Amino acid sequence: MKRIGVLTSGGDSPGMNSAIRAVVRSGIFNDMEVYGIRRGYEGLIEGDIFLMDESSVGGIIQRGGTMLKTARSSYFMEEAGFELALNTIKNNGIEGVVVIGGDGSLRGALTLAKAGVRVVGIPATIDNDLSYSDYSIGFDTAVNTILDAVSKIRDTSSSHDRISIIEVMGRSSGQLAHYAGITGGADAVLVPEVWYDLDKICSKIEKGYKRGKMFSIIVKAEGFPISTQELAEELQNRLDWESRIVVLGHVQRGGSPTARDRMIASEMGHEAVVILKKDEGSKALGIRGDAVISMEIEEALNLKREFDCSKNDLAEILSI
Ligand code: F6P
Repeated sequence: MKRIGVLTSGGDSPGMNSAIRAVVRSGIFNDMEVYGIRRGYEGLIEGDIFLMDESSVGGIIQRGGTMLKTARSSYFMEEAGFELALNTIKNNGIEGVVVIGGDGSLRGALTLAKAGVRVVGIPATIDNDLSYSDYSIGFDTAVNTILDAVSKIRDTSSSHDRISIIEVMGRSSGQLAHYAGITGGADAVLVPEVWYDLDKICSKIEKGYKRGKMFSIIVKAEGFPISTQELAEELQNRLDWESRIVVLGHVQRGGSPTARDRMIASEMGHEAVVILKKDEGSKALGIRGDAVISMEIEEALNLKREFDCSKNDLAEILSI
């Protein structure tokens, strides 16, 4: 394979740049031409692509976001948009594409693969919710960003004797909440996968109060089925205790990637090029334990991950 493309798609995540850098540098090392595709599948539809060289990716390994920009493209999933994307690939003589992104991006990659394009998917989403892979690029950085915020909120919450509810990202996955809640010493961690009774939260806070704990930290995933505002009002009414909410929002998606994210992104970017060079077919890359693994994209997307009850139990045990 002599000419490949690389794109980032869906929500950005720290470490995407490190992965792009690895694809470009490893591609050039392997005598390939590497084309950058801007704004994910949208750029593919519009033919927004450019030839990259070693220096195109200089100075980006430490930067959050994605130098290729990103988008969520519904047009790509329509026949007309998809045909335009295929034309861009054919007209530019691109033989393989590296797709860096989350679940939706890998579903797009599968559609391309089914149309005969060689594609390698690299999991990158702060949610870490791709079932087939133990890890997705960006999660570690996002957890550390949240943890930093939780620690700061502890300072002010304890000074004012308040209940602080910190809303973190995760529409359907509680992984960010669990990791940041456990490592940040939260009194309760609320995730989309498990119902948490409000009476239970109240009695926990009251129990703490009886032993002199005058503040409380609750980490709540955005997908927990009660809005953060509603939760704060409910706790304030039931306990007659001042409550504040902090919605961390997109702060969680930015920032310089941690060593872990840069390393996994570098390994996967290189591995994607090796797979394309050997013409081993379309694959999704993932992590099992410490190793980079690859499997058929369809198989990867069909795998279901069991909810990790142990993290939920640990959060409970350590916050008695
Ligand atoms: O999928 C990653 C993610 O950050 C989710 O955690 C969050 O719900 C969503 O993206 C937010 O998307 P947007 O940036 O489009 O608001």
